[in-house]
Amino acid sequence: MLNDKRIAAIVPAAGKGERMGGKIAKQFLEINGKPVLIHTLEKLSSMPEVDLIVVAAGEGEIDAVKAMIVTYRLQKIKDVVVGGGHRQDSVWNCLRHLTESEADIVLVHDAVRPFISRELVIAVCNAAIEWNAAIPVVRPKDTLKTLNGGGFVLTTLDRDAVAVVQTPQAFQFSLLRRAYLRAMEEKFYGTDDASLVERCGGRVKVVDGDHSNIKITTPGDLVLAQQLMGRGEMSR
Ligand code: CTP
Ligand code: MG
Repeated sequence: MLNDKRIAAIVPAAGKGERMGGKIAKQFLEINGKPVLIHTLEKLSSMPEVDLIVVAAGEGEIDAVKAMIVTYRLQKIKDVVVGGGHRQDSVWNCLRHLTESEADIVLVHDAVRPFISRELVIAVCNAAIEWNAAIPVVRPKDTLKTLNGGGFVLTTLDRDAVAVVQTPQAFQFSLLRRAYLRAMEEKFYGTDDASLVERCGGRVKVVDGDHSNIKITTPGDLVLAQQLMGRGEMSR
């Protein structure tokens, strides 16, 4: 039962946003006069299922993030910790901050995905309660091919056998901590949290993601996000 479980959210927000470019990291760019990070944190804070939130921010940005949390009166932020060189380092710094008594389920969610919905959080958490690890996926709309690196196609993938992965990803706390401990000890870096669990032999359940749960990555994504918010998709 979801209501009996303590759910802690980890929000990595320490990236540099190189694909976005510009001087301000994308998590601090404003949409409708509010930083992307705050949109995301407001959504998570408003969900009764989420008990506490730990944010990772760049070393020079911790005070600014703490000030934003005060300004926007965000209630559930347990701490803002320093991020690291990779997203995985940032998540690990948050994970190390949590104790067994604080969380049964850990939800890891990118700061730059402000269109997270309560329905999706409930779906991944319920799946993690049942299966220990769960991620949201959407089906690719385009044909996918592997490339040979020299400008030619290698193979065409079976579209039904692949998926595009999103966050929030949800895990039993002890499982995620074990997977992270091992990856960090072995200096293995994966491209998402679930890949560390997979590496330890853990099975990862997939649930239906949401095409509007975009990751703001490039300037075009920011325009799209502005349009989505304008259409009222940001309303709870
Ligand atoms: N992130 C982080 N610490 C890092 C790198 C990324 O906390 N060292 C966070 C980002 O702030 C973002 C999330 O992880 O909220 C997803 O990462 P991504 O979209 O790749 O963001 P950036 O790494 O900032 O962007 P880019 O890869 O274009 O530089
Ligand atoms: Mg990145």
